[in-house]
Amino acid sequence: MRSERPRLSVIGTGYLGATHAVCMVELGYDVIGLDIDEAKIERLRAGEIPFFEPGLPELLAKHIDGGRLRFTTSYPEVAEFADVHFVCVGTPQRKGELAADMTYVDAAFSSLAPHLTRKVLVVGKSTVPAGTAARMESLLLDLAPNKDVELAWNPEFLREGFAVEDTLRPDRLVFGVHSAWAEQQLRAAFAPVLETGTPAVVTDFATAELVKVAANSFLATKISFINAMAEVCEVTGADVTKLAEAIGHDARIGRRFLNAGLGFGGGCLPKDIRAFIARAGELGVDQAVSFLREVDEINLRRRVRTVEIGLDLVDGSYHGTHVAVLGAAFKPNSDDVRDSPALDVAASIGRRGGTVVIYDPHAMQNARRMHPELTYVESLIEAVTGADVIMLLTEWDEFRAMSPERIGALVAHRNLVDGRNVLDPVQWRAAGWLYRALGRP
Ligand code: UGA
Repeated sequence: MRSERPRLSVIGTGYLGATHAVCMVELGYDVIGLDIDEAKIERLRAGEIPFFEPGLPELLAKHIDGGRLRFTTSYPEVAEFADVHFVCVGTPQRKGELAADMTYVDAAFSSLAPHLTRKVLVVGKSTVPAGTAARMESLLLDLAPNKDVELAWNPEFLREGFAVEDTLRPDRLVFGVHSAWAEQQLRAAFAPVLETGTPAVVTDFATAELVKVAANSFLATKISFINAMAEVCEVTGADVTKLAEAIGHDARIGRRFLNAGLGFGGGCLPKDIRAFIARAGELGVDQAVSFLREVDEINLRRRVRTVEIGLDLVDGSYHGTHVAVLGAAFKPNSDDVRDSPALDVAASIGRRGGTVVIYDPHAMQNARRMHPELTYVESLIEAVTGADVIMLLTEWDEFRAMSPERIGALVAHRNLVDGRNVLDPVQWRAAGWLYRALGRP
């Protein structure tokens, strides 16, 4: 190690990697970011973040000309530069299977290793099935010219939409290591974060890998729990939003992640619980996580239910109806449409003959790419004008702030499905709307 403050590389510049690279520069490190996608690297070099993440473009602009951040497609350049390498590539769900696709992780480690001629630390940040770190450690030892190279696993917990905040001020750091040296390097690579009192949990590899999937499984389970309660509320006439408020006051339960509605989507929770089910099966402990199948099913049932509630409002058929879908991203403050509940519902209504008109403040481009058959418009006003039913499916502030009177003057019929339980039913009903929601009378 040449100095107390290691030089860092970030391999893979997607949501996780680009955020990590830019934030580490903000924390005072010299960083090189690598991606195999030339176009992405060109955009980053030009100071442009290739996705929507609040606060990140400003940080990139602040650092792009400062000489401490650069981007490349060259593994030799990265190996030459950095003392600590963070591997941040994706592990998407394999097509037609539950398991994670490890192609990118395997490729990143295999491409970097042959260039590692001095003792460095390679840190896996990607969310991976248990056992991957051990496999990557042998791969490094096989392929790296320097046999003292070490591996660590350091899972990432950032949320899209809050990625900058979560990276600069995480709740905790997890260091999966095999040696005191590796722990020391990680402590040096996160010194400014640790100095603010952030707890670091030091573990073995398998625990570090599992911490991440366990955390995401818990969060998914919490959401599906409240959505299961919503199903029961629907047949008993109870109100799941009040129920969540009441149980959330118990500090052992906590109110966060108890928002009932259309359920979870995105590039993480759905594929992580599925990959966990698959890996547990391989390890012979399928029963231990079989409840995650139910978590997944409860979640997917909410999408079906949302389509059905809309159907009630258009008298049993979507044919010949104009359905205004508000939201395409899997959650607000993101342009990510991977496994988006909103887009899934929109596509399903389209297949049932409805004319679906979608508006999302930031996710239109990605949505259009995934579902070119649907109609996209540039504003909320355009989407709702002439609508027979409005479906609020992603809770952007712009939609939360809608006025029932102003929107009512534009639609053909005052029908609304609040798929995220964010509007006030009393106010909307008073303005003459047929207001329907999930788990709420
Ligand atoms: C999730 C985790 O929260 C992060 O800690 C983790 O680092 C990340 O996955 C990852 O593995 O990379 P993210 O996918 O950005 O983060 O989104 P969340 O904020 O967790 O939301 C996930 C989904 O759950 C969204 O579709 C959201 O609408 C839904 N949700 C969330 C609910 O339906 N109800 C809630 O109460 C909360």
